[in-house]
Amino acid sequence: MSALNFELNGRAVSTEAEPATLLIDLLRGTLGLTGTHQGCDTGQCGCCTVLLDGQSVKSCSVLAVQAAGRRVTTVEGLARPDGSLHPVQEAFVACHGLQCGFCTPGMMMTATCLLQHNPRPTQAEIEHALEGNLCRCTGYVHIVDAVKQAAVAMNGGGQ
Ligand code: FES
Ligand code: FES
Repeated sequence: MSALNFELNGRAVSTEAEPATLLIDLLRGTLGLTGTHQGCDTGQCGCCTVLLDGQSVKSCSVLAVQAAGRRVTTVEGLARPDGSLHPVQEAFVACHGLQCGFCTPGMMMTATCLLQHNPRPTQAEIEHALEGNLCRCTGYVHIVDAVKQAAVAMNGGGQ
């Protein structure tokens, strides 16, 4: 075990991890943040997506020790400090962007990353950004609509 310090959802975390521990296992198992879902464990489904220094990563494909000294944001960190929902969360609700919800945390983290780097994405850019996130339920149309609505809410508009 090695000491591991990083920022998680705006708060300093001091914990320990084995060299081979995956970030998803640290988040869900050691730290109890089960909003990050575990699907394929092979980097294909995207439901484990979190932000690492603002970039979306699949936490089943990142070692926990790679988070040392960095900022990690999970779906639990999206809501505002007063508990109100993030615009991406509000848009997924309003646009019916989820059914079973298993893919939803990853979808929302990918969408958040996209909108932070590209405030007014085109339909094609949204679809491209979501390529690494699989959904078995929705057919993606409402998810793309949710990202468009979030872009309007956060940045005044998509294209
Ligand atoms: S669980 Fe990480 S990509 Fe599927
Ligand atoms: S809402 Fe069920 S997998 Fe996407």
